[in-house]
Amino acid sequence: MLVAERVSRSFGALRVLDDVSLCVGRAEAVGIVGPNGAGKTTLFNVLSGAYPPSEGRVRYDGRDVTALDAAARCRLGVARSHQVPRPFGGMTVFENLHVAAAVGAGASGERAHELCLRSLRLCGMLEVANRRADTLGLLDRKRLEMARALATDPQVLLLDEIGGGLTDGEALELVGIIREILAGGVTIVWIEHIVHVLLQVVRRLVCMESGRIIADGDPQAVMKDPAVIEAYLGSVSM
Ligand SMILES: Nc1ncnc2c1ncn2[C@@H]1O[C@H](COP(=O)(O)OP(=O)(O)O)[C@@H](O)[C@H]1O
Ligand SMILES: [Mg+2]
Repeated sequence: MLVAERVSRSFGALRVLDDVSLCVGRAEAVGIVGPNGAGKTTLFNVLSGAYPPSEGRVRYDGRDVTALDAAARCRLGVARSHQVPRPFGGMTVFENLHVAAAVGAGASGERAHELCLRSLRLCGMLEVANRRADTLGLLDRKRLEMARALATDPQVLLLDEIGGGLTDGEALELVGIIREILAGGVTIVWIEHIVHVLLQVVRRLVCMESGRIIADGDPQAVMKDPAVIEAYLGSVSM
């Protein structure tokens, strides 16, 4: 459904993604782990269209979307959350979702309203719908980040460290939401450092290091892979 085909990305002399190929199937849940600086967020940026790859192609739903920007891909059904939440602080939660539905899904009127309500419900945010986004605590800001992505009515949801900075208990609350999204038929690709939380959702794990995929497959096998253990022992992030 979403495919990176021999994707590379350089920033000046720095090669941040190096010949990465990844194929995510419809309604699949894939976890991505790897030390800080491995290129995980950059992979999401290339998949979502934030910027193009230096080499390689991105395909979505059988179609080459490499040349499409993030807004165009979002309309086709590719949504992402950001590692650092960035809501419109001066707007309410509901208004934030409305913007996402309008801009991300091209929805208006009744349909936009429905998308917002569904997101609020799924993400447990009905009670804070009229709160200004900049008054929310971290867990609710993370929820809002997910709700905004959901309001664009995605087929594929790319989650970038949505559990980062949360306690285990809080992260597990997000797990419940993500499972429900998955059960609704949405494909999930989730970057997360808290592996045991990630494994509550995903059946497949990808490990990146230095811009490359060094393991991909059954989570238990990936976690035991000597190259993966080495990547983590050599870093400070675990
Ligand atoms: N826009 C950019 N310009 C220059 N360097 C970047 C840019 N984005 C990311 N990098 C570099 O690419 C590397 C990988 O970053 P990133 O994809 O954020 O890793 P991860 O999400 O795995 O921690 C890092 O060394 C980072 O400094
Ligand atoms: Mg990152």
